[in-house]
Amino acid sequence: MTSTQSVHDGAATEGIWAAPGRVNLIGEHTDYNDGFVLPVALPHSARATVRLRPDGVLRLYSEQGDGEAVELVVADLAPGSVDGWAKYPAAVVWTLRAAGYDVGGADVHIDSDVPTGAGLSSSAALECAVAVAYNDLHGLGLTGPELARLAQRAENEFVGVPCGVMDQMASACCTEGGALFLDTRDFSQRHVPLDLAGAGLRLLVIDTRVKHDLADGAYAELRAGCERAAALLGLAALRDLPAAGLDAALDRLPAELRPLVRHVVTEDERVLEAVARLDAGDLAGLGPILTAGHASLRDDYRVSCPETDLAVEAAVAAGALGARMTGGGFGGSVVALVADTALDAVAEAVTAAFTAAGYAAPRTFTAVPAAGARRIS
Ligand code: GLA
Repeated sequence: MTSTQSVHDGAATEGIWAAPGRVNLIGEHTDYNDGFVLPVALPHSARATVRLRPDGVLRLYSEQGDGEAVELVVADLAPGSVDGWAKYPAAVVWTLRAAGYDVGGADVHIDSDVPTGAGLSSSAALECAVAVAYNDLHGLGLTGPELARLAQRAENEFVGVPCGVMDQMASACCTEGGALFLDTRDFSQRHVPLDLAGAGLRLLVIDTRVKHDLADGAYAELRAGCERAAALLGLAALRDLPAAGLDAALDRLPAELRPLVRHVVTEDERVLEAVARLDAGDLAGLGPILTAGHASLRDDYRVSCPETDLAVEAAVAAGALGARMTGGGFGGSVVALVADTALDAVAEAVTAAFTAAGYAAPRTFTAVPAAGARRIS
């Protein structure tokens, strides 16, 4: 596809849009509790080449698919009607229409290098790439945060995953060279510079290759547990429980909900502390916060797994300043903050620990904070 046509209301009908995956630095399982998160966008992205078509057909093709295009009639789209990777782009088109935007069909060619099932938001990347493309091609004028909320609605209502808004906000709104400090209650956000190279540091991402699946019910159960705890405490959300009141509040809750609440309240504190460290230029100070966050996800929230625990343990033992699982959990990836000089030793130590434990070798890469969703051609 090379030509740019101008037949739809004078707007160009073709181009290429990219939206990144993300790695969350801190603030896990806080986004559906109205709390704080601090993700960065990955250099890995989903790219969508999109050409509008006038016949109401959505024709989807993925370089990572089975070689077959998926053809859908836009007017017939309904939650649950599409399977596999195609449900993410379809979900965005359905949601735009459900939100009252008069959008129709397109040829969408997708190529993504965001690892799938690795807790790095490959589906949010896909959703946001298509959302920005439709936004531009139809001249909808939606902002990044508006597109992110639309993509979240697509995931909740069409795909059927009750996720929070972090992944879509990260993919739509992150900026190069920094982390996105987001308040998920009012969607206010601030770009926090993260000059890792200037501090002699790297972010090492360790994909354990243990696939996670948010649709499997565990995520929904955790979310429901948090909502039940907030209701029992008479709060709109766990975000409203101050850390100083945590112990007294825990006494008022059934035993099975206490660790969930402890994680969420302490995790919000960790995000605020992390942002304070970064604002003070103390990037290395992030390390212990990451490791404390992992312990909380492992012991209280119970969403880690033996592979992510081992990756964190081996990384820290080999000299990482801190490490934690990132994303929803039950597998996926670990993010470690590592001095330049220790990078190889840490990556090798994690791989050796996996071999010794009989696990498949993890995939490791370093991540420089990248830009959010945008038109690239
Ligand atoms: C998944 C969800 C996010 C968030 C994280 C946990 O990535 O999509 O909304 O809840 O898990 O922090």
